Amino acid sequence: MLQPKAPSGPQGIGLAGLGSYVPERIFTNEEWARRVDTSHDWIVERTGIERRRFAAADQTTLDLAEAAARAALTDAGLEPSEIGEIVVATDTPEVYIPDTSAFLQERLGLGEVPAYDLAGSGCAGFLQAVDVARSRVAAYPDRRILVVGVELLSRLMNWNDRETCVLFGDAAGATVVSKGGRVGEILSSDAGTDGSRADILSLEAGGTRLPFSVEGAQRGDHQRVVMRGREVFREAVRRMADSSRRALAAAGLSIDEVDLLVPHQANLRILRAVSRALEIDEERVFVNVQEYGNTGSASVPLALDQARSEGRLHAGDRVLLTAFGAGFHWSSLVLRAGPGIERSE
Ligand code: UT7
Repeated sequence: MLQPKAPSGPQGIGLAGLGSYVPERIFTNEEWARRVDTSHDWIVERTGIERRRFAAADQTTLDLAEAAARAALTDAGLEPSEIGEIVVATDTPEVYIPDTSAFLQERLGLGEVPAYDLAGSGCAGFLQAVDVARSRVAAYPDRRILVVGVELLSRLMNWNDRETCVLFGDAAGATVVSKGGRVGEILSSDAGTDGSRADILSLEAGGTRLPFSVEGAQRGDHQRVVMRGREVFREAVRRMADSSRRALAAAGLSIDEVDLLVPHQANLRILRAVSRALEIDEERVFVNVQEYGNTGSASVPLALDQARSEGRLHAGDRVLLTAFGAGFHWSSLVLRAGPGIERSE
């Protein structure tokens, strides 16, 4: 199938700051084993996940998004009033209407700037949003765009379905996309969609196809995440590897020139299979899925921020980011780390 050509070449647009937030509450595999028919060993062997964070009962998506956004603004040395646009990627919005970005605009005390959500694209949402923000900065060169990936998946998932509940965690990650981003310049991107496989990872309830109803709520439709795990696994590996190759080709780089691969943290076995497919050694692959599980659209910015805090990134490094999510959507970016990457919190 013909793939759209990814834009290539430095355009002087990049990330001006990074921030992330994870809730305090650690939820262990043993706790899952007490609730559903599973075990710590099964979860570690099949997913690599050892624990994850869950938001407190009084926290909402907006709280997580705000914390990550404020951290990214501080890192970028920017006041909220200097932000000219907001994009929030989430599948777990604050409310159904309006979108989470509207609440975030008010909470951060921003000007009356454009704000919108990218919803429903699962774990690929954050990288898609960064790519959209880059094109908006190309159109409005003085604009600084706050991009947030946030998920409160513990409130959406079915706590009795062992095939999905053990996978997910709550988190938020954020960046500011602007001209001359000091944390990293975006060298290239790749993104695509295959809507023919929407059936293997979905949540239908609440849409026009399956509107909310009392009967549906009693059946638990609102939490019925449909996931055909093995098929999602195969697609995730193939799509992230192919998309990564295209993003690298668009940047004129080979995999040997990549200093760090920061993939969507879905499952350790998926990360290893992607690394094998790309022929990149595991020392150059950042992994934190053991700590946080799959945090959806927060996964990539959280991993990137953590890689930076751990001193894994240095000015001049070439960083490959790749993600895959419901839709199916996939998205990859190649960054060249700037001097601002060295500052770790
Ligand atoms: O970002 C996208 C979101 N989704 C994903 O990333 C999911 C991608 N897929 C996966 O990560 C893996 O497919 C899973 C971790 C979901 C499952 O691993 P798997 O190796 O593909 O296992 P499986 O689905 O083939 O299931 C093997 C067995 C089954 O039992 P039987 O039929 O062999 O008797 C499952 O019922 O494991 C069983 N099983 C469990 N056992 C204990 C499934 N979930 C669990 C569990 N604990 N939590």
